[in-house]
Amino acid sequence: RKKTAILISGRGSNMSALLRAAADADFPAEIVAVISDNADAPGLKAAEAAGVPAIAVPRADFTDRASHEAAMEAELAEREAELICLAGFMRLLSAGFVARREGRILNIHPSLLPLFPGLHTHARAIEAGMRVHGCTVHFVTPQMDAGPIIAQAAVPVLPGDTADALAGRVLQVEHRLYPLALALVASGRARMENGRTMLSDAVEIGWGE
Ligand code: GAR
Repeated sequence: RKKTAILISGRGSNMSALLRAAADADFPAEIVAVISDNADAPGLKAAEAAGVPAIAVPRADFTDRASHEAAMEAELAEREAELICLAGFMRLLSAGFVARREGRILNIHPSLLPLFPGLHTHARAIEAGMRVHGCTVHFVTPQMDAGPIIAQAAVPVLPGDTADALAGRVLQVEHRLYPLALALVASGRARMENGRTMLSDAVEIGWGE
């Protein structure tokens, strides 16, 4: 099983979905650590309750990004993490950090990329008059929300939707999509090559409904 660390900043509901999936011994990834850049992140408590090492590396404890990243790197090295899942980690990683781990960092983003990179995706999708919206799991590259797509899921935008209502509908599918995408990468069925995602022939993406 591929040793995987999850980086969070807050609630950690996607983290919990990954922990639940990885609790199955047949899941191809094992979660070796949860690291938060925010000591008060509720997700840290949930990770602890699940029996996974939950480590706070608060950005506020460091003078600059380089020393903060170095502290996170030390934790990752100690746990021998091979893969990293960003799950509501609201901080941009340096190009160097990302380049050293090409094809080994995943992120979940609450829109159908390349539409709506950045923040406030649900409000922006409603404002744009979208009839569908969704989420994307992609490989992380130095440019924010722009790496090769691994998997996506779509939901309808319903008349009268608020950003919160739409966010809740998207979150439901995030929790199913992220474990699926991590399994594809951890098992080697999806990999990043020359800036693209290569899927092995046998891959059928879907959750079988
Ligand atoms: C999720 O909706 C995730 O897609 C989004 O933040 C939320 C975190 O929720 N990520 C981003 O916006 C990344 N730029 P969670 O902490 O409950 O998983």
